[in-house]
Order: sequence, then C-alpha cells, then structure tokens
Amino acid sequence: MKSSHPLTTVVLAAGLGTRMKSSVPKVLHKIYGKPIIHYVIDSIKPLKSENNIIVIGSEGREIKNTINKHYKKNLVTFAIQKEPKGTGDALKVAINKLKGFNGTVLILSGDTPLISTITLQKFLRLHRQNKEDISIISFIAEGNHSYGRIIREGKQVKAIIEDRDVNNEQKKIKEVNSGIYAIKSHMLKLLNEIKINKAKGEYYLTDIVDIAVRKGYKVGAHIISNETELTGINTRQDLHNALHYLRDRIISKWINSGISFIDKPSVFIHPDVKIGIDTIIYSNIHIEGRTIIGKGCTIYPNVRITDSIIEDNVTIKDSTVIESSLIKKNAVIGPFAHLRPGSIIGSSSKIGNFVEIKNSIIGEGTKASHLSYLGDAQIGKNVNIGAGAITCNYDGKKKNKTIIEDDSFIGSDSQLIAPVRIGKGAYIGAGSTITQDVPPLSLAISRVKQRHIEQWTTRKQIKKEKLEMKKDKKSKR
Ligand code: UD1
Ligand code: CA
Repeated sequence: MKSSHPLTTVVLAAGLGTRMKSSVPKVLHKIYGKPIIHYVIDSIKPLKSENNIIVIGSEGREIKNTINKHYKKNLVTFAIQKEPKGTGDALKVAINKLKGFNGTVLILSGDTPLISTITLQKFLRLHRQNKEDISIISFIAEGNHSYGRIIREGKQVKAIIEDRDVNNEQKKIKEVNSGIYAIKSHMLKLLNEIKINKAKGEYYLTDIVDIAVRKGYKVGAHIISNETELTGINTRQDLHNALHYLRDRIISKWINSGISFIDKPSVFIHPDVKIGIDTIIYSNIHIEGRTIIGKGCTIYPNVRITDSIIEDNVTIKDSTVIESSLIKKNAVIGPFAHLRPGSIIGSSSKIGNFVEIKNSIIGEGTKASHLSYLGDAQIGKNVNIGAGAITCNYDGKKKNKTIIEDDSFIGSDSQLIAPVRIGKGAYIGAGSTITQDVPPLSLAISRVKQRHIEQWTTRKQIKKEKLEMKKDKKSKR
C-alpha cells in the first residue's frame, strides 16, 4: 500500500571493515549471537518502507546469504558496490535501484546496531514536521572517537567534517554524525557533485550537507538520542562497548519488570529472552537465544541456558549448562548438571550433581541425584536413578532407546544396555549390567556372587616376611 509519506531505506554495508582486523565481514560480527546487520534490519522492519536496500561489496555474498537465510524473501534487496569508494558512492549505487521513487530515503550504516525503531520514527516525524531536505541524527560523543563533527553557525548546520579532516578547533566539537540521514529523493542528484576526498580516495556522503546548504536547501541535525544507542562499530573495542551498552539496556528492562539480580555486571541476557516476575538471578549467568524463564525461578551462579523453556518455580543450582531443553515447574537442576538438547524434565523432578541428560524425557517426580548419564531414554514418573547409573545408548553404530517405566528403582552404578525396557515398579540391584527387558514389579540383579577367601591378608603378609628374610641372608653372605 502506498502511504502519504513514501519511504525507502538504504543500509550501507559495503565497507571493508579493515579496522576490525578480521576475516569475517564487519556487519556479520555478532552481538549476543546475532549479526550486527540483523539488528539494523530489525530496527527498520517495522517502518514498513516501500524498499529496503542493502549495499554490499563484490565480496558480500556471505552477508547476502546470512540475511536471506534469516529473513523473509522480498524484505530486502541488495545493491552491489563494486569497489568501496566511500559512503557517497555506496548511496549512489543504491539509488540506481530507485528510479522514479519520490519520497524520503532513510540511510543507515550497517555498523550501527543499537539504533531503535522508536528513535527512527521520532526522527522521521521531525524530518517531515520541519520540512527539511536533509535531516541528520547527531549525538554528543564523549572521549576519544573518530566520528564526523557537525559544524554549525549559530543553530544552522553548515557541514559535516570527518575526524581525519578536522582542524584543532573543530576537533573539540562534541556534536557528531551518527551516519543516519533522512534525505528527500529530489536531493539525491547532489550526490553527483560530491568530489573525491583525495587523502582517503573516497566520496564522502557527509559532503552532501555542505553542497545542499550552499544551494539554500534546508538541513537539520537532531540530537534525539545518545552514544549508547548510536555507537558505530569500527573496531573490536567498539564491538565490546556495544555489547555492554545493550547488556545494560536489557538488564535495566528486566529489573524494571520484577526480576532480582544479585550481581548485574556479570549477567548476560540475550535480547529475545523472556523472564517471569520474582525470578532471582545470581552472578555469572548467560541466558541465550530464545530462552523463556517462568515466574519465581532461582538461578544460582555460573549457569548458561540456551534456547530452553524453564517453567515456574524451577531452581537451577550452580554451574549448570542447559541447551535446547524443557524444564517443567518446581524441578530442581544441578549443581553441575548438563542438560543437552532434547531433554524434557518433568515437574518436581530432581537432576543433581554431575548428571548428564541428552534427548530424554524424565517424568514427574523422578530423581537422578548423582553422577548419571541418561541418553535417548524415556523415564516415567517417580523413578529413582541411583548414583552412577547410566544408559549405554550407543552400540558403536547407532543410538538405542532405554525405557524406564513409572515407580521403578535403578540401583547405583547400574548399566542399562539399550535397547532395553525396565517395567513399572521394577527394581534393579546396585551394580547390575542389564541387557534384557525387566518385567514389571520384579527385581533384576546381575552381578558376580560375592565370595570370601578367609585369612587371605594374613597369608599374604607371611609370604612377604619370608621373602625379606631370604634377601637379608643373601646380602650377609
Ligand atoms: C561514517 C561517517 C561519519 C560518522 C560515522 C558514524 C562518512 C564519510 N563518515 O564514518 O561522519 O560519524 O559513520 O558511525 O560517511 N560503506 C560502504 N561503502 C563504502 C564505504 C563505507 O557501504 O565504500 C559502509 C560501511 O560498510 C559502513 C558505513 O558505510 O557500514 C559507514 O562506513 P565507515 O567506513 O564505517 O564510516 P565511518 O568512518 O565510521
Ligand atoms: Ca563506522
């Protein structure tokens, strides 16, 4: 549907990103597991513009593939800048795709990931209300940086001068260019008037400001947010800073939504995670991917949870790893537990120290408290798995299933050689190697019968003493 304010977005992502010192394209570096270009795309997606054009370099195939794999077809189109001849040239490549477009072009850098949709909407409103031909988001930058400076005469914006080109006076200016612009389409012809910056060998998009102002067009720069949102990523240090800005933003959101933290600075929660109220989060915790945590959970120190669902009132004790698993309400996991993908832990179950579970369903109220491996198993309700009991699920060729029915008892240090079924209410004697199905309500025991050799120690001692006496005699001779 055509809106009354037609909009096109252009994301510039064809730069070489040499300052990252990396073999990975800059915009594919990740923050919380998500490529930085995806953050930018997510911020423009709700604007519902007519076109979203991403400018990539001739080596940009990897960027294109990464984006195409993640987003619906037709959300973005790609324009290829054959040589990285600067941001001005990159925009020109994009607008070649826009013949006949009449409206506003919103330009963003692919390396400015923390920009929010709300700020962009506010910016576009200002651009329209002020009837500006070119609008710029600017911000106040503290400390050392290499952003372009906004040059004003009184209130009026005159130019943007790049860090490498500023004089000593201009160097002190704190208002800088975010690299986000709204430009009326009729202004784009001015791109042809940008001259090459001889020192860098690039066409600077920022030079369009000076050209437009000289021709009497209306240009405005707006400080509508801060460095924590508009930070651009050129170096690994910038990437680290951006991660921490985002981290602080996310933790603040959860603190304000009823979650308690014992040690904020050591907690990392990915942007798509959801957490219920009254959950308490201790120190050194990573909650990743699309994890959902219920209400009233407690997560003790040194825990990593990835792409999992944790229902209400679950306790996760120290040093536990949980991957692609479901933990039902009131369960207690850890310390030192490892739930590998496909683990479903029933409500009020207990998975204790040094227990590893993979691709298994554990029924309600079942306990595996110490030193077990449960793989490819289906375990019923109220089962007791003794210390050191394991499923032997792999025969060297394929994985086999272990079924343990409700109310059974697996004695300590038993090995269940899969495929095998333990019937309801059966008992496995400690130390058994179970190779056949066990009928319900029966006791299975498979150990060598114990025997005693009496006075064995005494005899051994006598033998030793005799041997020593012999040796003594020999040496005296
Ligand atoms: C740019 C701005 C600077 C601003 C800063 C904000 C220019 C000349 N300077 O500087 O005023 O303060 O962003 O973060 O625009 N790109 C291409 N093709 C190219 C060169 C760059 O597509 O030939 C892309 C890059 O991939 C990047 C974006 O344009 O996503 C900005 O380029 P970059 O080299 O990072 O510019 P900065 O030096 O950060
Ligand atoms: Ca940059």
